[in-house]
Amino acid sequence: MYLVGQEEIDALTRVIRSNALFRYGVGGECDRFEARYAKFLGVKHFALAASGSNALVAAMTAVGLGPGDEVIIPAHTYMATATSVLAVGAIPLIVDVDESVTIDPKAIEAAIGPRTRAVVPVHMWGAACDMDAIMEVARRHDLIVIEDACQGVGGGYEGRKLGAIGHMGAFSFNYYKNMTCGEGGGVAINDDLLAERARCAIDPCHFYWLGRDDAVKPFSSNGARASELTGAMLNVQLDRLDGMIGAMRAEKKQILEETRSLGNLGLKPTPMNSPDHDCATQVMYTLPSAEAKRFVALFPSVIVGKTGRHTYVEWDQVLTGAGAAHPAMNPFNMPANAECRKAYSKDMCKKSLDILDRTVMVATHPQHSREETSDIVHNIGAAARVALAGLPVSEADFRKARPIDAQKFDLKADA
Ligand SMILES: Cc1ncc(COP(=O)(O)O)c(C=O)c1O
Repeated sequence: MYLVGQEEIDALTRVIRSNALFRYGVGGECDRFEARYAKFLGVKHFALAASGSNALVAAMTAVGLGPGDEVIIPAHTYMATATSVLAVGAIPLIVDVDESVTIDPKAIEAAIGPRTRAVVPVHMWGAACDMDAIMEVARRHDLIVIEDACQGVGGGYEGRKLGAIGHMGAFSFNYYKNMTCGEGGGVAINDDLLAERARCAIDPCHFYWLGRDDAVKPFSSNGARASELTGAMLNVQLDRLDGMIGAMRAEKKQILEETRSLGNLGLKPTPMNSPDHDCATQVMYTLPSAEAKRFVALFPSVIVGKTGRHTYVEWDQVLTGAGAAHPAMNPFNMPANAECRKAYSKDMCKKSLDILDRTVMVATHPQHSREETSDIVHNIGAAARVALAGLPVSEADFRKARPIDAQKFDLKADA
């Protein structure tokens, strides 16, 4: 959570006082947000859901992914990307990321087999995937592209919004995301029929409230409907989004400019696919190797591969073949998936593990003052000199800067 203040409290209070918490018939906040966010993204439809995981499943359901299909996903993402593939009965195919810590387009192409039907590029830590290259591979091999933009809310890729470039885009609005309503998510879609299918995946009973549309035959699915509290809070959060991302981009630019000379020591800015357009929630550096550990011990920052939950080696259910609660519903047991590749091991993406363990992230924040950013720059320099150039810690002159909050939450919007 970045910025939450009186405006959100007022919006939620209004909805509660009005007694209109249900999105159909009585409310209006979810409809208003869906229209506004679709416009913001430059897509035709946006369908709100209860979470980013639900949004991914709705997108995969809408495009018809299921048993017999392989879906390519990156070695570095939140496990929900993989479990969403399993939730529709398909098999996740895990491939390497490149130095940008996002999926390597060359790894996508190398992994394509007769059963591969889709790819899920994930804009991790707000950094954009190489979407031109990915869309080109997808076009040549007739793959469906579902962007996982759960961590890319508000960011872009060369002038287009993340989540609005592939055939569908899934978003999360949970507590840690750039816009939040506690828990929430949604799907961006351009195609009318796919939008109707996604809405059915999110709420199979929605036609009771909205009327039947004969264009799409309703099917059964789990309910994941958003409430008017979600819509009301997101309408306020959307007003804050551009300003927030702009502030983080300015801070990232300043940090990168003022630490450029440290490249000589081995602290190199991580190559980004769209450095001026992405979310800029993190400044990333790629280090030679074990120095990353020393660097994060000296300066409040995070090794990308050591967050405890974002790399395939930590995806227990996937690695152990626990694809569903009921054995008959487990995609790993389904005869339709017999020809899909599903042999996973902890060292299957060694290249990714090496990159992720050498990449460190420094969190930006829209409310960092110029002074705080200067302290961050100063301390990055001090940590680099100790970790990479052998300066004794006692001579490093660290400033007492406020530690960067790796979990990225803050309640100071009204301060
Ligand atoms: C990359 C990615 N995909 C999917 C999700 C799932 O979103 P949610 O937690 O809203 O279900 C997350 C959430 O952290 C995420 O970071």
